[in-house]
Amino acid sequence: MEKQAANFAPGVTSQQDLLSVSDCRTGRQYDLPITDETVPAMGLRAIKVHEEDFGLMPYDPGLTNTAVCRSSICFINGEKGILEYCGYRIEELAQNCTYLEVCYLILHRELPTAEQLEVFEKEIQTLMVIPASVVALQNAMDPRLHPMSMLEASLAALSCEYPDAHVVLDPVVRRKHTMRLIAMTPILAALGFRHRRGFGPTEVRPELSYVENFLHMILTPTGVEPQLEPAMVKAMDTLLVLHADHEQNCSANAVRAVASSQVNPFSAVTAGAAALHGPLHGGANSAVLEMLAEIDDVSDVPAFLESCKKGDRRLMGFGHRVYKNYDPRAMVIGKLASGVIAVAGTNKKLEIAQAIEKAALEDDYFSQRKLFPNVDFYSGLIYSAMGFRPQTFTVFFAVGRMVGWLAHWEEMMLDPANRIVRPRQIYTGYARRDFVPMNAR
Ligand code: ACO
Repeated sequence: MEKQAANFAPGVTSQQDLLSVSDCRTGRQYDLPITDETVPAMGLRAIKVHEEDFGLMPYDPGLTNTAVCRSSICFINGEKGILEYCGYRIEELAQNCTYLEVCYLILHRELPTAEQLEVFEKEIQTLMVIPASVVALQNAMDPRLHPMSMLEASLAALSCEYPDAHVVLDPVVRRKHTMRLIAMTPILAALGFRHRRGFGPTEVRPELSYVENFLHMILTPTGVEPQLEPAMVKAMDTLLVLHADHEQNCSANAVRAVASSQVNPFSAVTAGAAALHGPLHGGANSAVLEMLAEIDDVSDVPAFLESCKKGDRRLMGFGHRVYKNYDPRAMVIGKLASGVIAVAGTNKKLEIAQAIEKAALEDDYFSQRKLFPNVDFYSGLIYSAMGFRPQTFTVFFAVGRMVGWLAHWEEMMLDPANRIVRPRQIYTGYARRDFVPMNAR
């Protein structure tokens, strides 16, 4: 049997680090190096029948089993229901840290000291100012537009304001605009809320925290003193922490794919926001509320679940590409929902959601497919109890996720293995055919 060595990675030292592959078409055997439990996709290219063959490629729609990068930001074990940012468990971060503390952690990979956090918070606060042209753009938009579309347009518009941001290989420039985006995103989101509600202009208050300012800018009409409910501030802070990053999800992957062309961060995160907008990703939390609105009573839950099992619809807020166990964020959020709703008053939707969760967890259809509540199952209920409309929920998700997108964008810039993202395809169209002139078609 003829044996061919594929590209060997440095550090391959023994047979144990190799995957032997036999090509039954030719009888040849190939050794692929195993590094970090992966084999290089390019190693397959050497596997050919004829010299002029292109070579084999992996076929992986949705990149379900493809590692696209090395990353030090976030760790997930979906089988065990573990989520960590830079080594810290999400449950501990949600309980003990503010969102800005977590932003510092995600950007620096270390928790800040009290002094470092103070400097970081002050810097963010000084950058919480939106260019007049972007405010004008928001005000020019029809307030009935989808809030995520407004946010996407505003993020894209920021790249016009900061043309120096294209110098993406300069760490000073990168940091400046990273801080700017973390500072500005809640204000951009809040401007959309104010526009829809017809509130006048307002300003960031120096005595308020980042999250307090976010809520103040959303909720306080011009000329009125902010009155913020502490339970609501804590809930929003926790939700932002839970959404800060989630490794190679659809929107982070969109940011990375776009960033691979070395585009500025404003354009890269606009792609992330667009990906988040979809109902199978960040749009799921509003889809959960829309779903709950269709169920009148707890007694209707069994029939509703039957329609999901028949494939007539999906049970929104259930299932996850990675978690095949309880999403740890859903655990934190489930408790948070009960707390917020206790402050806001009883909520029939919570009762229905809890009945769905209980019935689905006891049902073979969901357990066999490992479908558990995800982060979005309860987050929409919290936002709803706070008085927000379903269309606005994804905007909160985007505010929290901004730091994750930026960390992925920066990691991409620093990765020596970074190449422009350019996947392959299996062509299924026509074979070459003769051109048909217009008068003969
Ligand atoms: N309700 C009913 N059945 C489901 C659901 C659901 N929510 N999710 C998956 N299934 C079923 C599928 O029909 C399929 O069944 P089959 O094997 O009999 O054909 C099986 O479970 C596997 O489903 P896939 O679509 O292959 O799972 P995938 O990993 O591609 O999808 C996704 C993951 C998109 C999250 C899916 O579970 C879903 O649509 N959930 C509802 C939307 C949602 O809550 N999204 C938020 C995700 S979390 C986030 O983005 C923050």
